[in-house]
Amino acid sequence: MCGIMGYNGKQNAIPIVIKGLKSLEYRGYDSAGIAYLKDENVKIIKEKGRITELEKLLDDDSSNTAIGHTRWATHGSPNRINAHPHNVGDVIIVHNGIIENYSELKEKLISNGYTFKSETDTEVACAVIDSIYKETNDKIKTIEKLKDVLKGSYAFLILFKNDNKIYTTRCGSPLILASNIDGNYIASDIPAILPYTKEYYLLDEGEIGIVDFEKIEFIKNGNIIKKEKLTFNFSVSEAELVGYKHFMLKEINEQPHIIKEFLDYYFENFDLIKDISKYKKIHIVACGSAYHAGLIGKYLIEKYGHIETNVYIASEYRYSDNFITKDTLVILVSQSGETADTIASLRLAKECKAGTLGIVNVVGSTIARESDEVIYINAGCEIAVATTKAYTNQVLTFSLLAYKLGIKNGLISNEDALEIKKEYYNLPNEINKILKLDYKSLASKIYKQNDIFFIGRLIDYYLCLEGSLKLKEISYIHSETYAAGELKHGTISLIDEGTPVVSIVTDTSICEKTVSNINETKARGANVILVKRKSLVIDETCYDELIEITDMSDLVIPMLSIVPLQLLAYHVADLKGLDIDKPKNLAKSVTVE
Ligand code: G6P
Repeated sequence: MCGIMGYNGKQNAIPIVIKGLKSLEYRGYDSAGIAYLKDENVKIIKEKGRITELEKLLDDDSSNTAIGHTRWATHGSPNRINAHPHNVGDVIIVHNGIIENYSELKEKLISNGYTFKSETDTEVACAVIDSIYKETNDKIKTIEKLKDVLKGSYAFLILFKNDNKIYTTRCGSPLILASNIDGNYIASDIPAILPYTKEYYLLDEGEIGIVDFEKIEFIKNGNIIKKEKLTFNFSVSEAELVGYKHFMLKEINEQPHIIKEFLDYYFENFDLIKDISKYKKIHIVACGSAYHAGLIGKYLIEKYGHIETNVYIASEYRYSDNFITKDTLVILVSQSGETADTIASLRLAKECKAGTLGIVNVVGSTIARESDEVIYINAGCEIAVATTKAYTNQVLTFSLLAYKLGIKNGLISNEDALEIKKEYYNLPNEINKILKLDYKSLASKIYKQNDIFFIGRLIDYYLCLEGSLKLKEISYIHSETYAAGELKHGTISLIDEGTPVVSIVTDTSICEKTVSNINETKARGANVILVKRKSLVIDETCYDELIEITDMSDLVIPMLSIVPLQLLAYHVADLKGLDIDKPKNLAKSVTVE
C-alpha cells in the first residue's frame, strides 16, 4: 500500500527514483510525486494518475537527492493536492501507512497556527514533525519522538530544508535500505533496489536510517548501531516481463518451475515443514487469496491430521473472541508478510500465548520475523496485484504440512507416501499441459457477461472462491461463489439463459452431489464450464465446455485445478483490454486496516 523510493548519491536521483517507483506501482497507483534538492531548495512535483503522468511534468533537471511516492489513497481522493510528498514548514515527507490519531493532532496543530492544504493524514504527520523540530532543533530527537505522538502505521522518508540527507523511520509499514558504489537507496520493497544491488538492510521499528551522499547510518536510542546485511535470492529478471505481456501471465507460467524448486528444497529439508501434531486446535488467519489458501489448508489438515482447524479473515479475527489457548497454533498466511490485519492477528495470538507459524513469501518481513516459526513459500518476486504463484505455493505448503501429519499418524502409509511424493513431482509436468490449453476461445464466450457464478463443494468450493476472486478483481465482472448445495437457497433465481456457471469437480467423495447442482443450473439455461477430474464420468449434457485434470491425490490436485481458473480470468481481462497487473482500486500489499 503506497510505494516509497529514495536515492542519495553520485548519479542523477530523479530517474532512479522514477524507475524505482514504477517497479513499486503494484503497491498503489492513483497518484505519484517526487521531491528533490535543487540549489539549496527542495522542488516538489506531483500528479494524479500513474507515474507516466508524473513523468510528463518533469524537465531535464538533475539532483543527487530525491524521494518519491506512488499512492493508494486512504485519506482524501486521489488528486494532485493529496498526492505525496507533502511539505509543512521545514519538512518534506512521503508516507506509507495510516496515522490513526490525525484528526486530534490536526486540531491541536491548527490551534498552534498550522494550516493544511490537503485532506491527508500525511500532511498532519509532516506538520507534527515540523512542530517538534521547531522545539528541539534536533532532527534525530524529533524523529525519535514520533513513536510517542503518532498512532497507526508509517514508513517515512523525510527531508529537512537546508540538509542534503534523507531521514527514515517506520512503524508497521516496511522499508529496506541498500548501497552500491553509486549511492544509497531506500524503498518499500525489493524490486525497486534489484537493478542496483542484491544486498540490503531491513529497517526495524524504533530505528532511524540516515542516508547521505556517501553512506547509510542507523540510529537506535540515540546511538549509532551496526546492522546485518541481507541478500536477495532474486534475479533481476524476476522483476521484469522478459517477453510476457503481463506479470500475471508470467507468474502463472512460472508455477511449474517454482513448484519444482519448492519440492526439491523442502523434501531435502523436510524438518523445515513443521510438525504441528502437538496442537489441539489450529486457527488459520489471513486475507484475500491467502485466506482461500487457508481454507484448503483446513480441509487437508483436518483430513490428514485430525486436528480441528478453523480459518478466519484477519480483519475479523483481530476483533473477535477467538478462544485462543496455549494449545492453539495460529497460522498466519501472507505473501507480503506485511498485511496490517494479519500482523495484528499475529500479535493478538502471541499475547494469548498461542503457538504461531507464519507461511510467508517475503523473507525478513514482519510476519516472518515475529512468528515463532516460519515456512517460506519461496515463490520469488510476485509483481502482479492478483496473486497466482504465491497462492499456489501457499496451498502447497499446507499440503506438505498435511502430508507430514498423515505420515506421522499412519493415515498415509509408507507406500502411499512414496506414491504421493511422485505425484508432487509430476505436478510441474501436469501444470505445463494445462498451461497449453486454449483459454482465449473459452474467454471469448464469457468476457461480455455481467455476472458469473462459481460452484463447487468442499475443496472444490474453496478453489472456486479463489477462481472467482481472480476473475472479478482483474476483469471487473461481477462474480460470486457458492457451495454448490447452497445455490438453491436463493441465488439460483439469478441463473438465466446463458448465465455462465463455472464448476470444479475433483472431490470424488461428493462428485454426484455437485453434478446434481450443476444440472439444476443447466435446467435453467446456464452455460456451464466444467473443470473435472479425468476419471470422473459426467454426462456430456451437464456442461458446455470441459477442462479435464489428471487424477491425483487430493493433497496434490488443488495446485493443478486452480491453474485453468487463473488463465480463464487472465484471458477474460485481456480480451477486455484491461490493465491486468494493476486493477483499479487495488494494491498488492495492504499495510493499512
Ligand atoms: C491484497 C492482494 C491479494 C492478497 C491479499 C493478502 O488484497 O491483492 O492478492 O491475497 O492482499 O495479502 P498477503 O500479502 O497478506 O498475502
